Amino acid sequence: VTEVRDAAVPFTAREFRTTLGRFPTGVVVVAAVVDGSPAGLAVNSFTSVSLEPPLVAFCVDRRSTTWPTLRRAGGFTISILAAGQDDLCMTFAGRAADRFAGVRWSPGGGGHPRLADAVAWLDCTIHRVDEAGDHQIVLGEVRDLVLHDRPSLLFHGGRFADLVTRPSAERPGNPRPAEVALAGLHGLDVASPFFDVLSARLDRD
Ligand SMILES: Cc1cc2nc3c(=O)[nH]c(=O)nc-3n(C[C@H](O)[C@H](O)[C@H](O)COP(=O)(O)O)c2cc1C
Repeated sequence: VTEVRDAAVPFTAREFRTTLGRFPTGVVVVAAVVDGSPAGLAVNSFTSVSLEPPLVAFCVDRRSTTWPTLRRAGGFTISILAAGQDDLCMTFAGRAADRFAGVRWSPGGGGHPRLADAVAWLDCTIHRVDEAGDHQIVLGEVRDLVLHDRPSLLFHGGRFADLVTRPSAERPGNPRPAEVALAGLHGLDVASPFFDVLSARLDRD
């Protein structure tokens, strides 16, 4: 990606995804119990939408094999991943036949999986699903939520990052007692099979 582009030349898919990758996000796992079995996928397109009614949204690839299963459940629980849950994220983006193998969870209000040690759980029912290019926009109505006081996992520029709390002494003149700062980026292991999943999703050119 260049800092000066020729406006006459259309931007490439790589420029598009690299640019959007500079918008820092968290990562959530969207999960549901369907026909007695838990299913879920990792998503960083999660966002808040409405306060009244309380709506959240995420975008899911039309090629997702997990979403059609989740959709049948009529609802799902969002687990906002915590700092250090990188591996859990990759499990829920990976090719394991059972992504829940060895994963600790408990059923939320709708019976859907709340992943252990996550920052927050939002139990949702599906409000509506809209078509949007090669993705679908899923709107969930939040029926219940639980928040834990722990730092969130961040995703930025194709890498994971953590938030740390800096003591106020490091920031003279700032009246606020503490602030969260970017602690550093730790990369996805490019040798890992999970990287293929992510590149397959992002690499369209
Ligand atoms: C950090 C991260 C963020 C992701 N965000 C999304 C997303 O917003 N939407 C999506 O459809 N897939 C996303 N994925 C990919 C899915 O987790 C999953 O790999 C993909 O849906 C293929 O699996 P499936 O066929 O079981 O759905 C993300 C993966 C990673 C590692």
